[in-house]
Amino acid sequence: MKKTIKDYDLSGKKVIIRCDFNVPIENGIIKDETRIKASLKTIRYARKMNAKVILLSHLGRIKTEEDKQKYTLKPVAQSLSKILRKKVTFIDQTRGEKLENAIDKMKDKDVILIENTRFEDLDNKKESNNDKQLGKYWASLGDLFINDAFGTIHRSHASNLGIASNLPNGIGFLVENEIKKLTKLINKPRKPYTIILGGSKVSDKIGVISNLINKSDYMLICGGMAFTFLKSAGFNIGSSICEKEKLNYCKELLDKYENKIILPIDIITAKEVNENAQTNERFLGEIDEDDIGLDIGPKTLEVFKQYIVDSKTIFLNGPAGYFELKPFQNGTKQLLDIITHTKAYTVLGGGDTARAAATFDVQNKISHISTGGGASLAFLEETTLPALDIINEK
Ligand code: 3PG
Repeated sequence: MKKTIKDYDLSGKKVIIRCDFNVPIENGIIKDETRIKASLKTIRYARKMNAKVILLSHLGRIKTEEDKQKYTLKPVAQSLSKILRKKVTFIDQTRGEKLENAIDKMKDKDVILIENTRFEDLDNKKESNNDKQLGKYWASLGDLFINDAFGTIHRSHASNLGIASNLPNGIGFLVENEIKKLTKLINKPRKPYTIILGGSKVSDKIGVISNLINKSDYMLICGGMAFTFLKSAGFNIGSSICEKEKLNYCKELLDKYENKIILPIDIITAKEVNENAQTNERFLGEIDEDDIGLDIGPKTLEVFKQYIVDSKTIFLNGPAGYFELKPFQNGTKQLLDIITHTKAYTVLGGGDTARAAATFDVQNKISHISTGGGASLAFLEETTLPALDIINEK
């Protein structure tokens, strides 16, 4: 078991908390505050215990000087100040005198947010490549390091792995909760256990498929990735998305797990991908060369429902169709509706899936929605997670 924030005496200490404030921001307005709200428990606890709270996060990917304006964390500091009802001091630098002076002057319960750690990437990718000096420098600003950025747990950054290598450390409540909830999908899940995989690419899901297929009873495949499977099974998929280099992989899986992998039997197609597209319901075998498959059809939903209703554990990763456009949203919407009407332990993983749950307003009916995209997949693949592995054991 990893050490947590509760294992330390925080009173009067400078506690560096790595958060994942990688949130969508348009013209300075935060479009989704889920990740900010998810970090509150740890921040509030640290304040209650009289810590001096120093927050760090990355935002977006910084490649040019111009990116800095778009990806400043200033709006996050404003949002946090409002939610916490306490001024969060924003330091518009990632290092230097201004930052050090501000930290020196901190009183217990004060909160500081440092500018986007990836601004350091403009200098030789120092943050993303875990530059040793940078990690050491950030660690020198505090007494204790708490990693509460689950979304970044699969990355080896100076602001997670680097700081943790130089300070006593632990995980925050958000990371602790993610571990607890996601572990239930790996260790002794209640059966029947149904995994629903959507999204566009088979290649993104290979690790998850190979690690979870033997633990699950059924794997329902939808979204764009279904077409690579369907083509490998010999069906014409028209102009639908297909990863040719994964056809053999899909064929082998279908041969090996023919009773476990369930594919769509009808598809919503269109000739073009836009908000006004004319759609058709096509059974397999009816798809024309210029048809693009963009959602699962009603008969597929009926078939999927039979597997889902009696399940005791359900993991959904990836939308069933192009739900961002109205003509293709029914599959994802209905699938979420079916899932939320079961008594199963339900987990959603991946950024698009979380967005779909928000779009169709079912967040409160899901047992757990992971704050991690790539991180939740990496966790379920049971690969190494550098920023978690480095954290001290109890
Ligand atoms: C995420 O949004 O998945 C995490 O914040 C990690 O971001 P990254 O993929 O840019 O490293």
